[in-house]
Amino acid sequence: MDLAIKQLHPLFVAELRGIDLGRDIGPATQQAVEHAMNEYAVCVLPEQALDDERQIAFSRLYGPLENASAVKSQRKAGVIGQRIRHPEIFDVSNLDENGKIMSGDDARWIYRQANELWHSDSSFRQKSSTWSLLHARIVPPVGGDTYFADTRAAYDALPEAMKKRLQNLVAEHSIWHSRSLRGGYTPTDEERAARPPARHPLVRRHPGSGRNALFIASHASHIVGWPVDEGRALLGELMAFATDRRFVYVHNWRVGDLVIWDNRCTLHRASPFPSSEHMREMHRTTIIDTQGDVPAAA
Ligand SMILES: [Fe+2]
Repeated sequence: MDLAIKQLHPLFVAELRGIDLGRDIGPATQQAVEHAMNEYAVCVLPEQALDDERQIAFSRLYGPLENASAVKSQRKAGVIGQRIRHPEIFDVSNLDENGKIMSGDDARWIYRQANELWHSDSSFRQKSSTWSLLHARIVPPVGGDTYFADTRAAYDALPEAMKKRLQNLVAEHSIWHSRSLRGGYTPTDEERAARPPARHPLVRRHPGSGRNALFIASHASHIVGWPVDEGRALLGELMAFATDRRFVYVHNWRVGDLVIWDNRCTLHRASPFPSSEHMREMHRTTIIDTQGDVPAAA
């Protein structure tokens, strides 16, 4: 392995070259990726020729994978099934089951547009996720970038009084909260029951680096034990702080990019693109955080 690491932002994000995920990788490469992720939190691996099976196999090296429950329920309803065969693949695209551009009022597209809000994948699950791995298959000529924010750096930059205020606070996260913020998608009773809210500390320690990180964003609906308005005001203040330009990297996708991010210490959001004219197809795998919430370092 001839690994070249280039940092892409002053605080986080690295490009890794010299790894070919189209072949089996050995333990040295596996560890090198893990070390880079612990340090940089977002890693870009360009020019990866991956099919779904390869992406799943590589992702599994780092833990068990989430199943895309929305896809599963849609498959049950007979809506989807031809284009993506593996439940481990999250379809991050504007394409229907036949590979055609969805209409703007398609419920699946409306549901996915909440991805344009800052979030951490699966924070609404009690067992949330460590990493997400997103592989670019088709990219639009304009827009469709992904913004990433570094919540370790944001935590470090908070005033000491705010760090004290956050100690021992817990937020409740719900997928239906972020969907209600974006509007337009009404879950069925079955969907609501299948995805109840989860609770996580506002500050957690990132195990791979030992650094504290804010754990917030659009799924976080309120602070447990606080009046809802007061909790939302604090969450809003933290979000504005954490997504300040100085903490943000914008990734402009190229076909073949595999971008891995750590959901425990970054936030991300998609930027809009002319979705009725151009295709955007990305396949995501998501690793389950079996360790659970790690208490913040004092
Ligand atoms: Fe996401």
